[in-house]
Amino acid sequence: MHNITLRNMSLADLDQIVIMEKLCFTLPWPRGAFEGELTQNGMARYLVAEIDGQIVGYAGVWLIFDEGHITNIAVHPDFQRRGVASALLTRLLSNAKACGIESCTLEVRRSNLPAQKLYEKFGFLPEGVRKGYYTDTKEDALLYWKRSMSEINETYDWVIVEEEEEEHGEQ
Ligand SMILES: CC(C)(COP(=O)(O)OP(=O)(O)OC[C@H]1O[C@@H](n2cnc3c(N)ncnc32)[C@H](O)[C@@H]1OP(=O)(O)O)[C@@H](O)C(=O)NCCC(=O)NCCS
Repeated sequence: MHNITLRNMSLADLDQIVIMEKLCFTLPWPRGAFEGELTQNGMARYLVAEIDGQIVGYAGVWLIFDEGHITNIAVHPDFQRRGVASALLTRLLSNAKACGIESCTLEVRRSNLPAQKLYEKFGFLPEGVRKGYYTDTKEDALLYWKRSMSEINETYDWVIVEEEEEEHGEQ
């Protein structure tokens, strides 16, 4: 088992996040979108995962009353298939549950089978379709919901290293 650190995202992380965003998505979020999330959106919570000091993944959620809306999850291509997303999702969902979230939702491209499998492992189920949701290819989004937060599946093989919470000041 190896060590992974999960911690809150800060503005200082954005150089690395923006590079990974371009590696992982055909419609990457620009830096300003992350800046807005970290500094202006009181509902947003973003985590990063680090291995040996390198950011290898990140994930975010909006906490809207009792609903969690997962906005983003990505793992650097060199670190995929090693349980990083599972570790992030487990922590994101556990934190959301601790904040009173009772169900969680997200959108995923119809063609994105790896992400769909990941979400299904965590108890998300497809409940609907948003036709032509993605502006680049007009691909449909599948709308997934996790209706019960009672079970959060911990399937990763990492030792989570807790980090002292630093004062970033911007969040
Ligand atoms: C989707 C993504 C976040 C998964 O990250 P990851 O760290 O590789 O995922 P994990 O190693 O935790 O995998 C957990 C489960 O997800 C599923 N999964 C992940 N990658 C998969 C792949 N390439 N093919 C099939 N299933 C896959 C499997 O069920 C896997 O469990 P298993 O390894 O026991 O079979 C990653 O592929 C990624 O960053 N993709 C590009 C960005 C993206 O599509 N994000 C989602 C937007 S909705």
